[in-house]
Amino acid sequence: MTGPRRVAVLTGGGDAPGLNAVVRAVAKSAINKGWEVFGVEDGFEGFFTRNGIRTLSKDDVRGILQTGGSILRCSNRGDPFRFPKQTDSGWVREDRSGEVIEKCQTLGLDGLVVIGGDGSLGIAYRLFEKGLPVVGIPKTIDNDVPGTDVTFGFNTACQTAMEAIDRLHTTAASHQRVMVIEVMGRDAGWIALKAGVSGGGDVILIPEIPFEPEEVVKKIAAREARGARFSLVVVAEGATPRSGEKTVAVTAEDSPTGFERLGGIGERVARLLETRLKVECRVTVLGHVQRGGSPTTRDRMLGTRFGVGAVDLIEQGRFGHMVALHNESITSVALKDVVGKSKLVKPDGQEVRAAEAIGVGFGR
Ligand code: F6P
Repeated sequence: MTGPRRVAVLTGGGDAPGLNAVVRAVAKSAINKGWEVFGVEDGFEGFFTRNGIRTLSKDDVRGILQTGGSILRCSNRGDPFRFPKQTDSGWVREDRSGEVIEKCQTLGLDGLVVIGGDGSLGIAYRLFEKGLPVVGIPKTIDNDVPGTDVTFGFNTACQTAMEAIDRLHTTAASHQRVMVIEVMGRDAGWIALKAGVSGGGDVILIPEIPFEPEEVVKKIAAREARGARFSLVVVAEGATPRSGEKTVAVTAEDSPTGFERLGGIGERVARLLETRLKVECRVTVLGHVQRGGSPTTRDRMLGTRFGVGAVDLIEQGRFGHMVALHNESITSVALKDVVGKSKLVKPDGQEVRAAEAIGVGFGR
């Protein structure tokens, strides 16, 4: 197909720094080709609400490159294949994906750009299988989407976490304490690993390397014995003891979104160290600070390249694909090769090995 096209873009799931850079790049590059652009608000929910889809002009995306969040807002509640509906007997889920396809047809869309992590890209793929011309853009601070060297948002989250560790470093030193910092990442340890190594963490606990509590105790005890009067312990929220479960703050059943919320492992590690070593510990749970705020240079640049790349995929008719970064070049991978999989830290990969070589403990 040639000539002007109509495309829409949505930001699904949780937000990540750089979303606005991507939306801006999609809108500007498409408009520069003479195409018409729509923004779907609140993730997939926008397909089911009145006025949930609006035209995006160059004016709408002016001045947003440096801002956090998404001008289209985000939601992880609107999965069209499992859309929540309240009935007399409680909440049920119904498949409303057909309505998304009808709405896209009514709008005359030639392409839908889904910016999302594993959940939203999975929905995108199912919509593609039902005939919708979809392309994906990998987004998440967790960096766990396979098929791309990196997702946008990850670099900013690492920068934020590293700066927090730097700040904890000076207060830890002046009070001679063990500082435990819990970072996000769900089942992936990328943020803990990168920010932990960059921030000079002494112990880094990640989900990919189940830890032996005794090894963590030994590591901190050895530091104390050497005269190191403070320590930094960086813990991924999904880190688990070798003979235990991950620490869940809110179960899927109790959560209004239906998604389990991790949290609390930092506190458990601190209590372990205090009890065993009689050292003074403090815990910082960094939380959503990692998701908010202005994106780094790298995420603005990557987001811009991903946005332009997605519009190129539509132009080439390469639907059912996701833009990706391979060796600093923008390329694409089929969504079918991405969905349902996770890219995790290799327990014996170069980065972990380098950290161990300088004395970082992983609790193994
Ligand atoms: O997937 C991104 C992420 O920030 C995870 O690191 C974290 O576990 C989760 O989302 C938090 O989700 P919510 O915003 O729903 O609390």
